[in-house]
Amino acid sequence: MAITKKTVKDIDIKGKSIVMRVDFNVPLKDGVISDDTRIKAALPTIKYVLDGGAKSLVLMSHLGDPKKDMAKAKEKAEKAGEAFDEKKYIEGKHKMAPVAKRLSEYLGKEVKVAPDCMSDETKKMVAALNNGQVLLLENTRFHKEETSKDAAERDAMASVLATYGEVYINDAFGTAHRDHASTASICKFVKGPCVAGFLMEKELNFLEDKVVKNPAHPFVAIVGGAKVSSKITVIEKLMEKVDKIIIGGGMAFTFLKAQGKKVGTSLVEDDQIDVAKKTLEAAKAKNVEFLLQTDVVVAGSFSNDVPFKTVDVDNIPDDMMGLDIGEKSIKLFKDALQGAKTVFWNGPVGVFEMSNFAKGTIEIANTLANLSGAITVIGGGDSVSAVNKAGVADKMSHISTGGGASMELVEGKVLPGIAALNDK
Ligand code: 3PG
Repeated sequence: MAITKKTVKDIDIKGKSIVMRVDFNVPLKDGVISDDTRIKAALPTIKYVLDGGAKSLVLMSHLGDPKKDMAKAKEKAEKAGEAFDEKKYIEGKHKMAPVAKRLSEYLGKEVKVAPDCMSDETKKMVAALNNGQVLLLENTRFHKEETSKDAAERDAMASVLATYGEVYINDAFGTAHRDHASTASICKFVKGPCVAGFLMEKELNFLEDKVVKNPAHPFVAIVGGAKVSSKITVIEKLMEKVDKIIIGGGMAFTFLKAQGKKVGTSLVEDDQIDVAKKTLEAAKAKNVEFLLQTDVVVAGSFSNDVPFKTVDVDNIPDDMMGLDIGEKSIKLFKDALQGAKTVFWNGPVGVFEMSNFAKGTIEIANTLANLSGAITVIGGGDSVSAVNKAGVADKMSHISTGGGASMELVEGKVLPGIAALNDK
């Protein structure tokens, strides 16, 4: 099933000036990009536009959250008694130059960076573009209007950005859940069409169509991560669709406690116990198989340097915490996944960043990689790192580039960056 929004294929781009929102929010430290997946993911649309004879292409993206990130980094430095150089920090963490450099290497052509998004100098640079030249605006979040809660402020920025192209393309799926000037408000001002790029289209095809709306059955969801509170809406929504749900990670202990088990010093959200109980009852009522681990790898503290062992969930020592699923649970979950036609995975089942507690998550990744005839969709965030760590990323049907965005889509929320685009 095709998506309901117009895509770049539905419009004429030849000779047109294009303004395109991408999500180039890549991990950057001291000016070095550690993972350029998001840059690569935007290349098909960028190349299509350039190969299709567009007159010019203005790209825009945020890169981190300068205000928040800096406050955190400053506090950390102060606590450690270290000097903090604001300019250097911003330069190395939030400025677009390294991104433009990487993009120009991939495109084999120059990608200039504008000094900002709205100054006269930037406007002049945009106006001078011709013959398929590419300009990347500086970090959109250097302007407070981009993320302002005040719609009029966002509009003030959006109305300027809208003058940079006759056509607006949004390929920033990772940021589609943000109601920002460059992701949504801009569509009020662009004179021509506002359409989805190929990445946006692909994300919607998998997440919206193949997971949320029309999943093939049996459909198994794996939801992991630390907290029930942050995933409960996703779990509830998925339970309307799935045949089985596997719960892993820290949040499993709140469910185990809700079942009356002793969980030692494992992470538990006591204020979510009732929620967990209701969820377990709802699963029964809906005939959804709700799978929790039967054994657990425990350690005395949250550390890779302490002794660890595997115990049954009924025997978690009072002074130990669960940090991974045990062998029996790995088998239980593997068996549950056999024959699945759709698998959606969001969140690791253990503390996979620590080698002693990575096995469960890596085994899940490997199991998904070996399922035949199943559509395997990985929600963004930690599960993406897990499939990368397991070396099986290329075996998945789809790995989302959006953490928050993919969660909100599965929760059934309207994503402003998608809603703003033209309907087919
Ligand atoms: C992401 O990294 O999830 C997206 O780029 C959105 O970033 P944000 O959470 O800072 O809005």
